[in-house]
Amino acid sequence: MSELSLKTIIFPAAGLGTRFLPATKACRKELLPIVDKPLIQYAAEEAAVAGFEQIIFIVRKDEKSIARHFSDSPGLRERLAKTKTQQEVDALTRTITPSVTCRYVEQPEALGLGHAVWLARPFIEEQHFAVLLPDDLIDGGSYGGCMSQMMEYYKNNKCGAIGVEEVAESETKKYGIVSTEDSSAKASRITTIVEKPSPEKAPSRLGVVGRYILPTSIMSVIEDTKLGVGGEIQITDAISAILGKERIDAYRFDGIRYDCGSKLGYLQANVAYAMQSEELGVEFSNWLSNEVL
Ligand code: UTP
Repeated sequence: MSELSLKTIIFPAAGLGTRFLPATKACRKELLPIVDKPLIQYAAEEAAVAGFEQIIFIVRKDEKSIARHFSDSPGLRERLAKTKTQQEVDALTRTITPSVTCRYVEQPEALGLGHAVWLARPFIEEQHFAVLLPDDLIDGGSYGGCMSQMMEYYKNNKCGAIGVEEVAESETKKYGIVSTEDSSAKASRITTIVEKPSPEKAPSRLGVVGRYILPTSIMSVIEDTKLGVGGEIQITDAISAILGKERIDAYRFDGIRYDCGSKLGYLQANVAYAMQSEELGVEFSNWLSNEVL
C-alpha cells in the first residue's frame, strides 16, 4: 500500500430520499437534475478532475438506473449522430471519463451512511479513501472542485480530512459538528465530532459537508459501531471513535455548497447554475429579474 496514492472514492447513493417524496418514489434523488445534469454526474466530474480512478457507487437493492446513466448508450449516440457533430454527441451522451472505473455495490437496507461506506471495503486497498455525498453540490468556482482542494491538502499533510463550513446556530441539529484544535484556521485537527447536536450541545458551528478523506482503519471500527441517531449506523460515530488514533483534520473548502438533499438547497442550485449556464444564463436571468423579482 502506498501512503500517498488515493485512487478510490465512494458515492453513497442508497438513502431513501424521504425529503423529496413523492419525486423520489421511483426516481433516485441522486439522479435529480440541476439544469440538465443529474447530481451524481456533477459528483463524478468532481471526482475525475481530482484524479480518482475508481468510483464505488453504493446503490439500493436492484437499483439499475445509476449504472445505466454511466454506461455507454450506442443506440442513442447513433440516433443523435444523424443530426449532430461528433463533439455534440459526446457532450450529450458521455457521462463519465473513460479512465474512471465504476463499480456498483448494493445496500440491501438503508442502515445509514456508516453502513453504506463499510460495504465498499473489499475495494479499498490503500491507507486512505474518499467519500463524496452526491446530494451536496459544491461549486468551487475559480478555486477548483472541493475534492481537488482536499486532495491537495491530503498530499501535503498525509492525513484524513473532512470538508466543513460554518452553519447557522439553529442548523447544528442537521449536521455532524466538529471542534478543532484551532477553530479559526483554514484546516485544523478535529478533537471531537458529534452527530446532529442541539445548538446548546454543539461544540462549535463547524458543520460537516459531504466530502471526506478517511483512514481505511475506520472500516473495522464501523463494524463495531452501534446504531446511533435515527437508528442508523452513523459515520460520525466511527470517526469519533478513531480520533485518538488517527489524525483527521477539518478543512474549510473554498466555494459555495448547495444542500441538494433539501428542497430549498436544490432549488437554489438550479437557479444559480441556470444563471451561469452558457445556453440559458442571459435569458433565464432576464426572466428572473423582469418577471419574478
Ligand atoms: P441523507 O442523510 O440525505 O439521507 O443521506 P437520505 O435517505 O438520502 O435522504 P432523506 O433524509 O430521507 O431525505 C446522505 C447520503 O448518504 C446516502 C444517501 O443516498 C445520501 O447520498 N445514504 C444514506 C446511503 O447510501 N445509505 C443509507 O443507508 C443512508
